[in-house]
Amino acid sequence: MQNFVFYNPTKILFGRNTISSIGPETAAWGSHALLVYGKSSIKQSGLYEQVTSSLQAAEVEITDHGGVFSNPLLSHVQTGIEKVKQNDIDVIVAVGGGSVIDSAKAISAGALVEHDVWKFFSGKKSIKKTLPLTTVLTLAAAGSEMNSGMVITNDSTREKFGFGHQMLHPKTSILDPEITYTVPPDYTAYGAVDAIAHVLEFYMTASDPETPVQDRIMEGLIENAITACNRCLENPTDYNGRANLMWTSTLALNGLTAAGLGRVGFPMHMIEHSLSALYDIPHGAGLSIVIPGWLKWFSKTHPARIASLGKRIFPSADIEEDSDELVATRTITILHNWFGRVNSPTSLEEVDIPQSDIPRIAENALALAKVWRLTNYTAETIEEILHLCR
Ligand code: NZQ
Ligand code: ZN
Repeated sequence: MQNFVFYNPTKILFGRNTISSIGPETAAWGSHALLVYGKSSIKQSGLYEQVTSSLQAAEVEITDHGGVFSNPLLSHVQTGIEKVKQNDIDVIVAVGGGSVIDSAKAISAGALVEHDVWKFFSGKKSIKKTLPLTTVLTLAAAGSEMNSGMVITNDSTREKFGFGHQMLHPKTSILDPEITYTVPPDYTAYGAVDAIAHVLEFYMTASDPETPVQDRIMEGLIENAITACNRCLENPTDYNGRANLMWTSTLALNGLTAAGLGRVGFPMHMIEHSLSALYDIPHGAGLSIVIPGWLKWFSKTHPARIASLGKRIFPSADIEEDSDELVATRTITILHNWFGRVNSPTSLEEVDIPQSDIPRIAENALALAKVWRLTNYTAETIEEILHLCR
């Protein structure tokens, strides 16, 4: 196990009847909030009323900033930053999924600088301070509610870049599984795929081979994401299904799984971000296309690592005396088939992306590979992986 620093200052309030705490949790940090949310779900579910009542009861003034798109856009973040600057706003409240929370994070950092907020994403500037952020999570997926990352799409360049900094951790995140009862089947599945991807990225790219504690945690998270997602799809109001999916997706990317692994990469996300950026497909849908292709490519050099995952979580993948290569192939097939069963796409064709677009996607991804220092990924390598996404 490698040396590590694990620091996670986000306070989590988890469970039923926790939404009413958003007022006092926010009032602890400021008196005028920018309320960031998405297109329509929180108004349809009545959550908007619950949140604004709690904020008002805690004497927090509210300026609205709704309309965040899935795959959130830089231009909408920039409008939010202007609102903060013009209205003496001192705290940000995000009510939504990863897109809303990421937009709120970008606003919280961008509102305190004179330069364009995109400079953080392109690696030209680093964050020195942020406005405090509280969140109410409405969708189990990205993990943004308890981590230091944010992902935004630059609408003029069609680049979807992620950036991480400790100061982006929310102060408090409220996780009420009942709020996710209304998440439709497609986004429920995409969220589970995203959580699985977050775990797989670190599991596969860990540079230290002796990390049994993290390995068992990660295998458990993947197993649980699948089981909990199946339960939620069968019964959308299964409290424990929703609760387990929610906590799994939070733990999948809150820093815990990476502790001790040494240097890790995020190559599947590097490629997926180009699919979302160029074709505006949901993040989880892009990942279920990329994961099997990337694993097939990786299994050429590292079949044992994939086989070790399969042996732990898919007992049917392990037949005594079978080679690592065979077990790895079976593991990839089991994952691929599960993505299909929950209706998450598994090929570029399924989302109408022609093979002739592969060079363009690879070129787009290469820009992020450079920012993320994934130096072993050339355009040719990325194209090779994309050709396996079928
Ligand atoms: O906009 P509304 O009307 O709210 O609808 C949303 C949206 O259409 C809907 N939704 C959310 N909660 C709901 C609900 N519908 C019914 N009931 C509810 N309770 O779901 C749709 C998708 O929402 P979105 O926030 O886009 O999904 P997700 O949480 O998957 O976030 C995706 C974004 O997170 C980024 C992705 O790249 C993508 O842009 N990620 C952020 C990460 C991070 N900050 O650490 C890491 C991830 O790898 C990921 O890249
Ligand atoms: Zn993700």
